[in-house]
Amino acid sequence: MILPRTILVVGSGGREHTLVRAILASPAKPRVLAAPGNAGIAQDASCHAVAADDVPGLVTLAQREKVDFVIVGPEVPLSLGLVDALAKAGIPAYGPKSDGARLEASKVYTKQILLKHRIPTAPAGIFTEVAPALAYLRTRPIPIVIKADGLAAGKGVVVAQSLAEAEESVKSMLEGGRFGASGKQILIEDCLFGEETSILVVVSGRDYVVLPTSQDHKRIGDGDTGPNTGGMGTYSPAEVVTPALLKRIDEEIVHPSVDAIAAEGIDFRGTLFIGIMLTKDGPSVLEYNTRFGDPETQVVLPRLETDLLALLWAAAQGHLRDVPLKIRADYALCVVIAAQGYPDSFKKGDPITFPPSLPAGTTVYHAGTARDAQNRIVTNGGRVLGVTALAPTLREASERAYSACEAIQCASKYFRRDIGAKQLNRR
Ligand code: AMP
Ligand code: GLY
Repeated sequence: MILPRTILVVGSGGREHTLVRAILASPAKPRVLAAPGNAGIAQDASCHAVAADDVPGLVTLAQREKVDFVIVGPEVPLSLGLVDALAKAGIPAYGPKSDGARLEASKVYTKQILLKHRIPTAPAGIFTEVAPALAYLRTRPIPIVIKADGLAAGKGVVVAQSLAEAEESVKSMLEGGRFGASGKQILIEDCLFGEETSILVVVSGRDYVVLPTSQDHKRIGDGDTGPNTGGMGTYSPAEVVTPALLKRIDEEIVHPSVDAIAAEGIDFRGTLFIGIMLTKDGPSVLEYNTRFGDPETQVVLPRLETDLLALLWAAAQGHLRDVPLKIRADYALCVVIAAQGYPDSFKKGDPITFPPSLPAGTTVYHAGTARDAQNRIVTNGGRVLGVTALAPTLREASERAYSACEAIQCASKYFRRDIGAKQLNRR
C-alpha cells in the first residue's frame, strides 16, 4: 500500500495533538500540517490559522499545500460537510460525510436508527412541544434523562434526579432556548445504571476494526461528582469489559450498528465511537459519536502498534482488511489538566511551566494552549493539557501520570485525583 505523503489534521485539541504525534510516528515519514492546531501541535507540525469549522478555508488550504490526506478531528466540521467538500475537490479524507456525521449531530435520528434496527438502547420519547413532553415525563421512572437533539459540546444531556428538575430541563430546552437550535427537539430517555465504556471503531463501509477499550471520567469532580465535562481523564484497557463482554458488545452492538449504518445507505469511513452503558441486563447504547473521543484518543492511540496512518488511509480507501490491528500490552492512563473553574467560566492566558524532563513513558498532549505576546506557553481553553503515561501496570501508569501533573506548573491548574481509581480499586 502506498501511503500519502502530506497529511492535514483538522482541529486544535488534545485529540488532534495525539493524532499528529501518532501520524508522525509512521514509518512512511509523512509531512504533517494542522489547522488551526495549538501551541503543542506547533512544536510537532506546521500550524495554519484556519478555523476547524471554516470548510471553504480548509479546502483551499489543502489544495494550496498539496495535501494528500485530511484527518478530521472534531464533529463540527464533519457535520458541516467538510469531507463532502474535500471529496468534491478530489482530496481523500478520514471521517464520515455529513450523512454519517448526522449520527452524532442528531440524537433523535440516532435513536430512531437504534430502535429500527433493534440495537440495545434505552426507551425514549421524542418531543418538540412542552405539553406532551411533560405528560410523558409523568409516566416514566425518576431519574430520567433529557437530551437536546443537536450538538452541544457534550453539555446537552441532563440526568434529572427529580420530576421538578426534569420539567425545568424540558421547558428550558423547548421554550427557554437553552442549547439554541440544538434543543428545539428533545429526547426523554429512561435512565440506565452501570459503568460506562467507550468503544472506538474504525469503520470502512461494512468492514470495521474495534480499537482497544477505554473508560472516560466525565464529571468535573473526584468520585464522579459535579457537572459533566468533555472528559477529565481516561485509561485503557477498561477491564470491566472482559473478553466475553467485548464479544457480546461486538455481536449485539458493533456489528449490528455498522450493518445498520450501511443499510441506511451511508458509506461511513471514519471513527464510530459508541458510548455504552454496561447495565445488569447487558450493554446498551448511550450515543454514537462520529469521530475519535477526547480524551479517549490520548490513551487508545499510544497503545497501537499498528501504523495509524496506514490504518486510517486503508479505511478511507476501502482496504481496511489489509491492515491488521496490533495492540501493545502496556496500560495507558491520561489525566486532563483543566483551568480552574471549567466547565463554567475560567481564565485564559495563565503561563504554564514544564519541568526539564518528565517521568519515563509520559507524554504531554496539548489541548487549550497558545503562545502569548512574550512567546510563553499559556492556557487558552477549559481543558489545557492531557498527560498520558504508558506502563506495564495501571498503577504505575497512574503514578507516572500524576507525578508529571504535579511537576507541570500553572497557577490555575485543576485535575481530578482519581483517574483509573475504579479499576485500581476493583483488584
Ligand atoms: P451522551 O452525550 O448521550 O453520551 O450523554 C452524556 C452522558 O450523559 C453520558 O456519558 C452518560 O454519563 C449520561 N447519560 C446519557 N444517557 C444516559 C442514560 N440513558 N442513562 C444514564 N446516563 C446517561
Ligand atoms: N470523551 C467523550 C467525547 O469525546 O465525546
